Amino acid sequence: MKSLIIYESFYGHTQVVAQAIAETLALHGDVNLIHVTAAQINDLRDIDLLVVGCPTQALGITAATRAFLNQIPEEGLYGIRVALFDTRYQRMMWLPGSSAERLERTITRLGGGVVAPPESFVVADREGPLVEGEVERARSWATALVAAKVIEPA
Ligand SMILES: Cc1cc2nc3c(=O)[nH]c(=O)nc-3n(C[C@H](O)[C@H](O)[C@H](O)COP(=O)(O)O)c2cc1C
Repeated sequence: MKSLIIYESFYGHTQVVAQAIAETLALHGDVNLIHVTAAQINDLRDIDLLVVGCPTQALGITAATRAFLNQIPEEGLYGIRVALFDTRYQRMMWLPGSSAERLERTITRLGGGVVAPPESFVVADREGPLVEGEVERARSWATALVAAKVIEPA
């Protein structure tokens, strides 16, 4: 299985989660872990699984992640299994804004087959730290992605 993990991170926490996911997926095949500002459309070639991770800011997706997704042509993710995660404030968990949920809508429009509900990993405050146990939860989440089937829209 060939996986690509694209992430954005300002304070390093989404990066830590992305790294834990990468280490887990590396037990099952090739993994490429790339910060979104270094990602190119060609990186999407021949992958089986795409994981996108983005901090939630202002209830949604950050600018560089949005800019990367905007470069992907229509149906450009057709045939690729996809999973989305974000990192979020603990204090804001009761609010609806989640960049992973927003990402799911965009990815589905681009033809990607989502294999898991969008997941949020939690930071204690605006600049972190990650809440205890979140890295382990990310490893479990990644393990479940390996064999997960595409969730057909209802
Ligand atoms: C400008 C700004 C806006 C933010 N807005 C939200 C928000 O709307 N909802 C939320 O849950 N967290 C919000 N946060 C907290 C971020 O999600 C948190 O900084 C991020 O998860 C940390 O990830 P990183 O270390 O990878 O940057 C915001 C943070 C910043 C800096």
